[in-house]
Amino acid sequence: MAEDPDVVSRRIARESLDRDDPTGWFENLYAAAAEGSAVVPWDRGTAHQLLTEWVDESQPDGAGKTALVVGAGTGWDAELIVDRGFETTAFDISPTAVETAQRNHPDSDVHYVVADLLDPPAEWHRAFDLVVEIYTVQALPISLQPAAIKQVTELVASGGTLLVIAAARPDDRPDADLQGPPWPLTRATIQSFTTPELHLIQLDRSPSPADPAIHRWRAEYLRD
Ligand SMILES: C[S@@+](CC[C@H](N)C(=O)[O-])C[C@H]1O[C@@H](n2cnc3c(N)ncnc32)[C@H](O)[C@@H]1O
Repeated sequence: MAEDPDVVSRRIARESLDRDDPTGWFENLYAAAAEGSAVVPWDRGTAHQLLTEWVDESQPDGAGKTALVVGAGTGWDAELIVDRGFETTAFDISPTAVETAQRNHPDSDVHYVVADLLDPPAEWHRAFDLVVEIYTVQALPISLQPAAIKQVTELVASGGTLLVIAAARPDDRPDADLQGPPWPLTRATIQSFTTPELHLIQLDRSPSPADPAIHRWRAEYLRD
């Protein structure tokens, strides 16, 4: 009997993390999913509900503006953003994720590329009017999160917006209690996306419709 795809997904992550390779499992997982032996648990086949709500509420006009989608996976969030008129780049560390996104959206105007958040292209520095980060930082071990967060903040252009969506964890729940991935973000971690020039202008915490025990952050930041 074939192995349960969810079990396969967790095993792929664990093998890579046990080898001290915190990002290698993403490519292994997407490649296994492409051949049908695993599932990508976060692949919703649609944009994230909280991103859709933010777009509906904010009605961003992307005409003449650039957007970057971090850890874009199979592309559904990037497609929502490009539909608002932004010149949109979406990147992922997994080449198979990027290929899958291109296959999912063959007529897309999104520029899908392979790149590493922890070492992004120099020309992306403060280059984007809108940066969307959903569930990438929390997919990295806690020791890597400060470096990843700093890189996210450095992608936002002057006057630009950063939108972060992440699973929430109580501040008093210690790191050692977590058996990630994922490693959900505390309020303090959400605050740590701010800099003297990048201000948290809206923060919501809401239960997941699928599992009300799980809460999610939706945080919006604005650069001076
Ligand atoms: C939990 S998934 C979330 C995907 C997507 N943002 C979503 O919400 O459906 C994390 C994504 O980040 C990508 N990723 C992980 N580390 C990365 C890195 N260092 N640079 C770029 N992408 C990364 C993974 O390949 C994966 O697609």
